Amino acid sequence: MNDVYGVIGDPIAHSKSPIMHNVAFNDNQIEATYVKFHVSKEQLPQAISGLRALDIKGVNITVPHKSSVMPLLDEIDPLANAIGAVNTVVNQNGTLIGYNTDGLGFVEGLKPHIDGELETKSVLIIGAGGAAKAIYYTLASLGVKKIDLTNRTKENGVALINSCPFALESRYLHLSEAETILSDYDVIIQTTSIGMSPSVEQYPLALRQLKNGTVVSDIIYNPLQTTFLKQAKQLGARTQNGLDMFVFQGALAFEKWTGIFPNTIMMKKAVLKQLGGSHVNR
Ligand code: ATR
Repeated sequence: MNDVYGVIGDPIAHSKSPIMHNVAFNDNQIEATYVKFHVSKEQLPQAISGLRALDIKGVNITVPHKSSVMPLLDEIDPLANAIGAVNTVVNQNGTLIGYNTDGLGFVEGLKPHIDGELETKSVLIIGAGGAAKAIYYTLASLGVKKIDLTNRTKENGVALINSCPFALESRYLHLSEAETILSDYDVIIQTTSIGMSPSVEQYPLALRQLKNGTVVSDIIYNPLQTTFLKQAKQLGARTQNGLDMFVFQGALAFEKWTGIFPNTIMMKKAVLKQLGGSHVNR
């Protein structure tokens, strides 16, 4: 019998998770199917109970359910608990366990772009939403000691920094303040939706003070190159779009479900092919 996996979200029609996971199941000769589940906020409790009833082996959780799913699960991994969001559920014989692979997926995707140890790098995160939190907390949990954060709304930035349970050195900076000291950073991570299609001309801050060789990562992958990344590249930065984070969060979820870390190059190719260089949501 085919095992069933899926992704739960609202909206979900444009999700690229099925293509990516089905390629990985196929490549590993696992008889399983990964499908989209369109579930509204009101229907989430029934949908989660349904995972047990239908013996669905695992799901990804996406917008808007990443936090609201937590009280519906039996166990939560400590990192997911600290972040306050779950993107992966494992159904272990009826016990539902929640994980967060977004931050770890981001870090796995980032590592090949970094020279030396990530822990020693000076990092700037732009934004203070759910993605920023997952990345900030995960980096802090892995021992990165200097992570500054800049955001349009100060209270949101300060709240994120203050609620982090891992020890580190961190300052909140106004966007205009961050612009003037960009050369202090080895890694700059853009986590907001600024520059996402269709508002592709927008960017969060001016990069003039960027030092050569800085790694600039934007979690957006629609478009594949945001205006922000384009500017960074022109200024001599090493750039990375959000496709790696998407693929690696999926690969880590796949590993939680099957015990196998899949071929991420193959998964990335499948997503790129379906994107066709055009437009997407998770
Ligand atoms: P996520 O999906 O990660 O939860 P989101 O809700 O899409 O995030 O975006 C939240 C982040 O993007 C916040 O940092 C938000 O800034 P505020 O805290 O000031 O709201 C930032 N953001 C979104 N649109 C923005 C814009 N047009 N200009 C500046 N920041 C913006």
